[in-house]
Amino acid sequence: MSTTSNTTQIEEVRKELPRVSSEARSADQLMDDITRLLFDKMLKYNWVGFYMLEPGAEPPMLVLGHFQGAMTPHTRIPLNQGICGAAASSGKTVIVDDVRSDPRYLACSVETKSEIVVPVFVGGQVAGELDIDSHFPAAFGFEDRELVEYCAQLVGKRLAQA
Ligand code: SME
Repeated sequence: MSTTSNTTQIEEVRKELPRVSSEARSADQLMDDITRLLFDKMLKYNWVGFYMLEPGAEPPMLVLGHFQGAMTPHTRIPLNQGICGAAASSGKTVIVDDVRSDPRYLACSVETKSEIVVPVFVGGQVAGELDIDSHFPAAFGFEDRELVEYCAQLVGKRLAQA
């Protein structure tokens, strides 16, 4: 591993995504591959995982899916809890530059300083989300947001084909 700029890392991931997407044989494999790619290539992405809405659950429940990084205590998150619940219930990307200042935050690791959560849409409905934690404050800028939203779109499109 060598240190490159965040922009260079994003460019490298962007170049790899078409191959990763076309080689994945299922939405499940695509989610697994995307978590690996982002975790391996984006040096400030220190936990990368998908939470998916449990089919038919009432009340709705986010369930941990493919992830890279340390195991989290939050394997099931109701929509009224956490940054994860906020993103899924609003259908909007949530970026938190300083997790300690956000009362919604559910702690996964004491090292986490900032977080981005991007909804995954299937047929216009939220089906899950891509959650990324960083050990660095304000790690997720505009380019990161575009990258993570693009990854979430790829997964949404693949899930729609299933
Ligand atoms: N921090 C999230 C919980 C998931 S862990 O970060 C993996 C939240 O506040 O919803």
